[in-house]
Amino acid sequence: MGGIKAVILVGGPSKGTRFRPLSLDDVPKLLFPIAGRPMIYHHIEACSKVKGITEVILLGFFPENQLAAFIDATSKELNVPIRYINEVKVLGTAGGLSRYRDQILSGSPDYVFILHSDICCSFPMQSLLEFHIKHGKTCTIMGMTVEKKEYANQYGCLIRDESTNELLHYAEKPETFVSDCINCGVYCITPAFFDTMAKTSNELQLSMQNVSLEYPEILKKGVEQGRLRLEQDIFVPLAGSGSIVVYPYTGFWRQIKNAGSPVYCQELYLNHYAKTKPEALSKGENITGNVIIHPSATVDPTSKIGPNVYIGPNVKIGKGVRVLNSIILDETEVKDRACILYSIIGWRSEIGFWARIEGIPNYTPFLYSQDKRKGITIFGAGAQANGEIIVSNCIVMPHKQLDRNYNNEIIL
Ligand code: GDD
Repeated sequence: MGGIKAVILVGGPSKGTRFRPLSLDDVPKLLFPIAGRPMIYHHIEACSKVKGITEVILLGFFPENQLAAFIDATSKELNVPIRYINEVKVLGTAGGLSRYRDQILSGSPDYVFILHSDICCSFPMQSLLEFHIKHGKTCTIMGMTVEKKEYANQYGCLIRDESTNELLHYAEKPETFVSDCINCGVYCITPAFFDTMAKTSNELQLSMQNVSLEYPEILKKGVEQGRLRLEQDIFVPLAGSGSIVVYPYTGFWRQIKNAGSPVYCQELYLNHYAKTKPEALSKGENITGNVIIHPSATVDPTSKIGPNVYIGPNVKIGKGVRVLNSIILDETEVKDRACILYSIIGWRSEIGFWARIEGIPNYTPFLYSQDKRKGITIFGAGAQANGEIIVSNCIVMPHKQLDRNYNNEIIL
């Protein structure tokens, strides 16, 4: 049959702790709206546009019923079959691929994309595929040069041959600087790479019995936990063997790790929309910059909205309200003259008259380990801020009612 398949590694709920309080409302992290669409909608949309795509597989360990409605609606909207494969137990980034190999390769696809779910980028799938076909090796890793060298060791680091792009060395989150080219978590493979993974995994099992081999310490952890990791267990030993090539990506890219990330990632997607599908953005005299307002929301014309704002279904925005760099979720009410900056306001919340809710612009938590500020202010579902209070850099648990000012706190 041939064609192309895509596998999105969606992980599972145990990974959602950094996403609190937004994952407390029964919406799994991967369905949290970014630029008005569930986080993994963007991945699926990009894959659906590739000529010859036959199926998108979500591979993870979420309860099936949490994803069923999304899968059904998105499959119909984007006209691509979507299937969920439940790993049941955590198998690692390569473990599930190996275990469900037959299901992934059913229909004999010519190529398979593998994507991490917790990233935001332009997903240049067609260009990645063409690059992969052209070099003819079995695996392509999308790599990118980080803006500052200090960021690199948070990721998988790649050393490649500058002229051929072949991967020469791979280090997963190394302690010291290795390279400023990082693994973006987007891959294209040829089915033969499943055999390479199986062979490498077998060699790994053998090496565990022979401590004199080169990588025993780093390999130990994954094997002991019964996981097979694409990064440490497959890419590390295969680097330099000529089977992996790095696709040099130069577009926008960011991880979606904590609950504040959607605001920064939304900005990247909205900027991208302005260039690629401006019709997705809302227009109006009170709108400035890139904004999406759901058609069912009521926004008073005297408010000022944007840039980088999403206003969800049935939200009510009162007179003279200011919203900037924020996400306001379904059925929330923002009363007159309130001001919301760098914040995420969860479902069915209420922001009182003249209240000011604010976070920190461009906060990058890992760069400020001594920095105790909380970054984006986040209101869990059903939280309420009374009128005339100021809440800055706080995380507010669902259903809390705030009646005084708060600064840099987790409000339980
Ligand atoms: N199905 C499944 N099973 N998915 C998993 C599993 C698993 O056992 N473990 C992780 N994932 C998914 C996560 O949901 C996420 O989408 C992706 O795989 C990455 O997993 P993480 O474990 O969160 O890794 P990381 O983000 O710290 O680092 C990885 O991604 C970086 C790019 O974002 C590495 O691959 C780095 O090298 C890379 O730079």
